[in-house]
Amino acid sequence: MSIDISHLVIATHNPGKAREIDALLGPYVRRVYTAGELGLPEPEETGASFAENAVLKAKAAAEASGKPALADDSGLSVSALGGDPGIYSARWAGPEKDFSLAMGKVEAALKEVGAKDHSAAFICVLALAFPDGRVETFEGRIEGALTFPPRGEKGFGYDPIFVPDEYDITFAQMEPAQKHAMSHRARAFEKFLAFCIQKVPA
Ligand code: IMP
Repeated sequence: MSIDISHLVIATHNPGKAREIDALLGPYVRRVYTAGELGLPEPEETGASFAENAVLKAKAAAEASGKPALADDSGLSVSALGGDPGIYSARWAGPEKDFSLAMGKVEAALKEVGAKDHSAAFICVLALAFPDGRVETFEGRIEGALTFPPRGEKGFGYDPIFVPDEYDITFAQMEPAQKHAMSHRARAFEKFLAFCIQKVPA
């Protein structure tokens, strides 16, 4: 079986995310369209897992555009909080997208359960959907531990409280290239690209 992803829809309305995904795809895709650019509707993220949300976004874009579509869903999963904030990572920051607030909520939740275990992981699931209904998913994760108070000015979201295993600085204290070389998103993309390269004939 071969697949053609030379023309790919990035199923996001977030231009920043689309740019990052476009850069990660590099030379493998000739033309990237975004769901926003094509005027595709933004489906509600009603799934119960990263994979379900990524699949529903990718399928909606593939069906509406008639082209293969790639979507991602990601977030922070904290062991002592049963995986929260998980798929609600963006929502914990509220309508103002205030991640100081979100990181404060994580710290408060850990105190409330009296957690000694601060282990956590960033998770990213990519879904690749085809107009004929086929769908493939690729998961990347990076394990680490949470630290308070937040440290570092780089990165975004929960980066200032996440220290990856075997490091003593947070994602927000690292150079972006160092984070991107090991991140959950990079690991999911490695799997996705390996799948495409293996399936696309020379
Ligand atoms: P999504 O756009 O629904 O996938 O939202 C993912 C949310 O998870 C983001 O808004 C961030 O809060 C969080 N998140 C995902 N990846 C990262 C990361 O690399 N660093 C920090 N926070 C992240």
